[in-house]
Amino acid sequence: MSKEIRIKIENLCKQINYYSDLYYKENTSEVSDAFFDSLLKELILLENKYPEYRTIDSPTNRVGGSAVEKFSKEQHSFPMLSLANAFNKEDLLTFNSQILKATDLKEVEYICELKIDGVSISLVYENNILTKAITRGNGTEGELVTNNIKTIRDIPLKANVGDNIIRGELFIDKNTFNSLNKTREEQGLDLFLNPRNTASGAIRQLDSKITKSRNLKAFIYYSPSILESKTLTKQSDLLDFLGKNNFSVNPESKVCKNIDKVIEYVEYLLDKRNSFPYEIDGIVIKVNDYNLYETIGKTSKHPKWAIAYKFPAELKEAKILDIFPTVGRTGKITYNAKLEPTNIMGSVVRASTLHNLELIKLKDIRINDTVFIHKAGDIIPEVLNVNLDKRPLKSVEYSGIDKCPSCETVLNKLTEVDQFCLNELCPIKQLRLFEHFVSRNAMNIEGLSEKTLEKFIENKIISSLLDIFTLEAKKDIIIELDNFGEKSFANLIFSINNAKQNSADKLLFALGIKNVGKKTAQILMEKFESIEELFYIKKDDLTGIYDIGNVVAQSIVDYFNNELNLNLIKSLKEQKINMLYNKRKLTGVLNNKINNKKFVITGKLANSRKHYEDLILQNNGDISSSISKNTDYLLAGNDAGSKLTKAKKLNIKIINEEEFIKLMEDNNNE
Ligand code: IVH
Repeated sequence: MSKEIRIKIENLCKQINYYSDLYYKENTSEVSDAFFDSLLKELILLENKYPEYRTIDSPTNRVGGSAVEKFSKEQHSFPMLSLANAFNKEDLLTFNSQILKATDLKEVEYICELKIDGVSISLVYENNILTKAITRGNGTEGELVTNNIKTIRDIPLKANVGDNIIRGELFIDKNTFNSLNKTREEQGLDLFLNPRNTASGAIRQLDSKITKSRNLKAFIYYSPSILESKTLTKQSDLLDFLGKNNFSVNPESKVCKNIDKVIEYVEYLLDKRNSFPYEIDGIVIKVNDYNLYETIGKTSKHPKWAIAYKFPAELKEAKILDIFPTVGRTGKITYNAKLEPTNIMGSVVRASTLHNLELIKLKDIRINDTVFIHKAGDIIPEVLNVNLDKRPLKSVEYSGIDKCPSCETVLNKLTEVDQFCLNELCPIKQLRLFEHFVSRNAMNIEGLSEKTLEKFIENKIISSLLDIFTLEAKKDIIIELDNFGEKSFANLIFSINNAKQNSADKLLFALGIKNVGKKTAQILMEKFESIEELFYIKKDDLTGIYDIGNVVAQSIVDYFNNELNLNLIKSLKEQKINMLYNKRKLTGVLNNKINNKKFVITGKLANSRKHYEDLILQNNGDISSSISKNTDYLLAGNDAGSKLTKAKKLNIKIINEEEFIKLMEDNNNE
């Protein structure tokens, strides 16, 4: 028994360390916070019961919301308390009776607000200006992430709030989360697991551009300083006040005149819980009248005038029918669980990633096991842990693979946990690359489905990207294949010939360079105009460009340093594939939104000033060298000085390069 407990504690430590390393070092997560917390709780319980097995390096010695070193720490002037939880109607009734008792009232008015499943933030306004933004941290001190928070549009940099602390929740909505993951998939990166972790990672980025690109949103709901000063006396008035002063306030809050009305509204929201465009994990119920707060009181951890009604977790159980590996475009092996089809939150889940072998071992997941699965919002299904009570005698341990399932090359472990097939000619890697190359956002070649590509590879019709452009010469063999008549062949050739004219950003994206997604490819081509300009590029030439960080720059340099890649591109050019960026999208359109609009350009820009001047002039805009009340837009780069100050004073619209590009694109889509 004692051995089992020691092993259990060791395993828990390993799992917790694994997840917290991922979270803190790589800003990503493979499990939900609830699951992480449950592991931690289990460990704490066991360590308390069996202190002899507690190790010096146990994660319980350091986990607990301590701030990480990256950002400077900042003391909260009002502690950031959490809320007590209610899980059912009885809990709500008890909460109410305690309040009635403390206040000696017969009924109390409440306000119900959605409990947004995000990360809380404390905003310090001094003289109406946002001066600091601090994460929750351990509640007493958090991390100073002001610059990152300033990239969030929902947070006003200036608001009519004088000197006050304003708090709320940052989150990523479901659509944004899905599209972030789509881009990550295109780039061959690991997917984000859920919006909450993604939001939490996003605000802790060292590069604010990354925070910005994650498109965080905010709902604001609290001000400890206004509450203390009683300049407002009701929570509903605070929400109105915040809303009128440009803060984003959730529209679903409702004043309920007593606890029965609260319960009615909670039941109504329970039905609607999945219908919001963002994730919620419960409902916060607060006494509406601030004048009652002191009488009701608080504990050291949470106020007694509010409670968080937590939705029951939508956990389901599913049997693992099999575990199978898949090979990605980069050769990375991902292990997946084939699940007994299970309906969860309105959709049937048949499979779920198990990530890597280490994780399968850590969670001790076996074939035929019954596992708990859960799905955050309508998003990615996640295998949480094994229901050991249901482990059958015939559970089968899974030991993974050490050879590529496609080409049998011995796999390499390039990171601590991930295995890769490094064979450049691996058929499955090639298939994934070809699929990506012809996909709609890449070269957009119709008629090359996964099945057709498989057939072409099998019959040695295609073995490199170049072969796609020489298919015409192989007409006889192709027409012999099943389901390939003259007509489909002609359509295919037509589509291929069309693709040759694509703007080069599509080709650049299609090449499948690690970390180069659609948007990065566009930005690169905006700047360099021809793919050939990238042949001898150095990292320094890239890192100053908007949205291109170190990692992306290194991937690009690595790609173009490889002789094989250069030869491929040269051969593509010989096949008359367009290597130039087609600027049509951004130029030459008249009578549009920037027609006669006056621009001033200032600050350090990633692209040359001339580049923007040309674009503005070609689109019938005007450029002037100084700000006046007639200026329509200030295009401001980094370190902008007096022009920026003046523009702010005159309330002129200030845009950065990304917004400028967006403006031109919107413009041309009309
Ligand atoms: S009020 C002292 N209102 O839930 C009370 N919190 O478990 C301050 N949350 O730390 C919190 N939506 O991060 C409040 N409408 C809402 C909320 C909300 C989400 C979060 C917040 C808080 C946690 C409490």
